[in-house]
Amino acid sequence: MTVRERVQKAGQEQVFKFFDSLSKAEQDKLEADVGSLPIEDLERMFKASQTYEGPDVAGCKAVNADRTGVASKDDGTWFKKGLELVSESKLAVVLLAGGQGTRLGVSYPKGMYNIGLPSGKSLFQIQAERLKRVEALAGKGTIQLYVMTSGPTRAKTEAFFKANNFFGLKACQVRFFNQGTLPCFSFEGKVLLQNKSTVARAPDGNGGIYLGLKNEGIIEDMKAKGITSCHFYCVDNSLVKVADPTFVGFCATLDADCGNKSVVKTIPTESVGVVVQDAQGVHHVVEYSELSTEMAEKRDEDKQLTFRAGNICNHYFTVEFLEKVCSLELPYHVAKKKIPTVNDDGELIKPETPNGIKLEKFIFDVFAFAKKFALLEVDREDEFSPLKNSDKAPRAQNMIQDTLE
Ligand code: UTP
Repeated sequence: MTVRERVQKAGQEQVFKFFDSLSKAEQDKLEADVGSLPIEDLERMFKASQTYEGPDVAGCKAVNADRTGVASKDDGTWFKKGLELVSESKLAVVLLAGGQGTRLGVSYPKGMYNIGLPSGKSLFQIQAERLKRVEALAGKGTIQLYVMTSGPTRAKTEAFFKANNFFGLKACQVRFFNQGTLPCFSFEGKVLLQNKSTVARAPDGNGGIYLGLKNEGIIEDMKAKGITSCHFYCVDNSLVKVADPTFVGFCATLDADCGNKSVVKTIPTESVGVVVQDAQGVHHVVEYSELSTEMAEKRDEDKQLTFRAGNICNHYFTVEFLEKVCSLELPYHVAKKKIPTVNDDGELIKPETPNGIKLEKFIFDVFAFAKKFALLEVDREDEFSPLKNSDKAPRAQNMIQDTLE
């Protein structure tokens, strides 16, 4: 069957609406672009996203630090264990930097953002220097850094690291890899066009990391280097403790295959998900957008929020666990977004209100597959200050050539 026939059968023929008005080269480009979509799967993916209800929270229990670990209670054992892993070169850091940072509104990847310190350092620089500091504390060993990018962030991120000599890291210590993309849909489940000859696509969410790790040979690379454990974190937390010895040491001491850092959620409306344990004892994160008001507002006798283990996208995984979960098909969550597309006349439009959906996989949806899950509570003041919005968009520090803009 030709691509056109397959698309017609799948009820997505609108992607060829402007086909006849295109040049031969554009027609070929569009056909190849559409042909690379999972055409026969589109309907199922869209429907699955519409019906996904999140983890079954009936009978869910809160998982709070009093039942797991609190960083400030470390007597030095966890910290020492973490440094031991580093000194044996068994720890890798995986940085999630594939997001488009639409709320921040800058034209470059978030990691290049100057957060306003007197030093003018970018997030990437601060984080690379923290990684080096942990190496120095361990005295020996290398921490491999894997940077996950996406179509929109790859070239600029890689060029920024190179232009800045990898911020003092060795070039061979840093490896970039891409997450995948998924097509954007209208609210009716029709694939949108970015222009007359290109499908509108977006990164497949931070949960796209698992397929990325597999498809780009990262798991194999880790195994070949003798890496056993990883610290994953999001680029936009300006206080992140990269390769935090206390956290990785805590998880390794408990022999956990999957671990999560949390901060105490203090107001019901804060935009962080919470860690829960379902009736079968399986751990999940319920994302804030999927948390019922009743659960969000529930309080214990001492007036603290009952569901207060706030998820800050800061995780520990063993390589063995990653290998197990990287082939799983994770659920698709719906994000209603303003997606630039073409109108019926083929003119480009930039919508002012959400006009469609992006499908996103969430990184924490693998928690349910952990054999042993560990949760460490840390102080928000010390470790969590996410950069999401800005009312002004200064230039990135040490900006690379404008040609990349
Ligand atoms: P957010 O969900 O806050 O998205 O990402 P974002 O792209 O940074 O910002 P908005 O929503 O467009 O304004 C949290 C973290 O997850 C990463 C981001 O890079 C950030 O570190 N992320 C998000 C990815 O790596 N890939 C994605 O597809 C989405």
